[in-house]
Order: sequence, then structure tokens, then C-alpha cells
Amino acid sequence: MNMPVTVAPLVALRRLRIGFGPPSRPPVVDGVDLDIGRGETVALVGESGSGKSLVAHTIAGIVTKAARVSAERFELGGVDLGAMPERTWRTLRGREIGVVFQNPRAALNPVRTVGRQIADVIHEHRGLSGAGLNEAVNGALAAVRIPEPALRRNAYPGELSGGMCQRVMIAIALAGNPSLLIADEPTTGLDTTTQAAILDLILGHASERRMATLLITHDLGLARAYADRIVVMHAGQIAEQAAAEALFAAPRHPYSAALIGATANDARSVADLVGIPGSLPDLDAGPPACRFAGRCDRATDQCIAEPPPFVFDVSRHGVACWRPL
Ligand SMILES: Nc1ncnc2c1ncn2[C@@H]1O[C@H](COP(=O)(O)OP(=O)(O)O)[C@@H](O)[C@H]1O
Ligand SMILES: [Mg+2]
Repeated sequence: MNMPVTVAPLVALRRLRIGFGPPSRPPVVDGVDLDIGRGETVALVGESGSGKSLVAHTIAGIVTKAARVSAERFELGGVDLGAMPERTWRTLRGREIGVVFQNPRAALNPVRTVGRQIADVIHEHRGLSGAGLNEAVNGALAAVRIPEPALRRNAYPGELSGGMCQRVMIAIALAGNPSLLIADEPTTGLDTTTQAAILDLILGHASERRMATLLITHDLGLARAYADRIVVMHAGQIAEQAAAEALFAAPRHPYSAALIGATANDARSVADLVGIPGSLPDLDAGPPACRFAGRCDRATDQCIAEPPPFVFDVSRHGVACWRPL
């Protein structure tokens, strides 16, 4: 479901920069603008190392302390998070944002039953206890299609499959009824059938609750199947963004075109890309002004000297490239 552009977005992020090490080192995330509308599903795609998780962690308020983070604007539901004391916005975001990561078993507490872990968050967010809490836990397990909830709630994470653990994580993420769900590679490591079931579950809940969803994936096929809008990241910057079908129909950035070409050649995962020359630029060596220039057969001197501005057309299809397709 596409959002009219006039509606204020739920998440509005401008000029996000994230760096590590000395301030002289170029930031690993450099100037990312990202809007996510209420009820909208945005897929963030790009090779491993392009900065997708750092962006997601920043929005969720869980980015590593080692990172230097700055943004010109950072709003959630119209509230300026940049102007709030860190503690206040962490609590706010804890309620407003649910997160689902890859490797759910590692994210769960191994010595607490899954029922207890779900009960903890339901109690925290909804204040339920006793029989009401018990019922809510069974309901939460049923809502993520875990069979026999009254039995399974007594299992420890180690006794459940990866797919079942991911369902538990989704139940935990949904417990506070957040307005934004961030799913960072939620199906990596699961078998293909389970992947589809998990994504159907996440996006089904998102659509039912009109929740905004940020889906991070290196699988363009999944992005196309599940997202309203696709944002392509390369080396810490946004190369292109457009409605999912518009991006596939007519990619404008040479990097997106290469990714889509590789998808068409059956390398569904960006991780197995063939046909995109080179690798992400070495930031310590001083990247070219366009961070893709070193891999791009259309690059000119301008691409090395001057960063390309991000320009939108009338249909909100945007690209950062001096010589777009
Ligand atoms: N804790 C860290 N310390 C130093 N550099 C980091 C750290 N976390 C991430 N990075 C750098 O940021 C880049 C982007 O990381 P990440 O957001 O995890 O990429 P993605 O999720 O797209 O694979 C990494 O390639 C790495 O260079
Ligand atoms: Mg990642």
C-alpha cells in the first residue's frame, strides 16, 4: 500500500552519519535520508557491509556505543528524538519500535522458557498479570502460529527450531503493539519454506495493524515481493530509492541495475552477486566522491571529484548519480 507523499512520515531521518575510529576517518554511513510512512513497508537492500544494520540499529536506539552517530533530523511520529535526553527516547522507542533480527535463538534467553520471556514483555507493556497474562501469552503464541501454545510456552529456546524461535521473537516484538517493526535479515539461516512463512507472518501483522515495517534483506527477490518501496544502499550511502515495481522496471543507478541484472540471472542474493565488479571502497584510502565510481563503467572525472546529489523525480523515484540510466 503506497502512502500519499503529503502524509507526515512516521520515521524521518536526515543526513545520518555514523563513524568509527578517529574523526578524520570517513564515516561508514554518510548522509543517509530515510522516511518510513505509517503502514508502509520499506526494504533496505545492499551488499554485506553497506551499513544496513547500522541504520536499523540507530533507529531502534541500539547502535553500538563505539559508533559516533549524528543526524540533522531524527523524528519518530513527529517527536524530535535528537532534542530528547537519551534515556527518554530509549524508553519511547522501546515501546514504539519492535525489532526482529537474524539468529533468534541467540537473541532469546536460553535458561528461561519462551512463555516466560513473552510474559515479561506483555507484563511490561500492558501491565497484565495472573490469568489475564497467561491468556495473553497463549494468544501471542497463537498469533504467530505456534501450534499448541499452552504446551509450547513451557519450552526453552534450545528445544525449538530456528523458525519457531523466530516466531517467538516476532511475538516479543509485537507485544508492545509498536508503530514500527524493524526486521534485520529475519529469515537468514532459515530454510526457504520457513522464510516465506516468517515473512508472511511479519508482513501480515504489519498490514493488519497498519504498522510501518523496515525490512532489511540482501535478497532483492524478497524485497520486491514484500516491500512497497525499496531503498538501495551502497557503501554507507543511498544510491537509489523507488516504489518496488518502479525500481525493477527502470533502475536508474548503475549499482541497482547491476543488482537487478544479477537477480534476473538467478543470483537472488546480493551476497552471491556475479557481474558487479570490485568490492566496497576502502574508506581509509579515501573513497571517490561517488563511492561507486571505482566499480562503475560509466564513471567520469566528475564522479571521482564531486559527490552526486540525491535527486527525486516527480514520482518520488530518487537517485544519486551524475550519469543515471
Ligand atoms: N562495531 C564496529 N566497529 C567498527 N566498524 C564497524 C562496526 N560495526 C560496523 N562497522 C563498519 O560498518 C560497516 C557496515 O556495517 P553493517 O551496518 O553491519 O553492514 P550491513 O548490515 O549492511 O552488512 C561494516 O562493514 C564495518 O566496516
Ligand atoms: Mg547487517
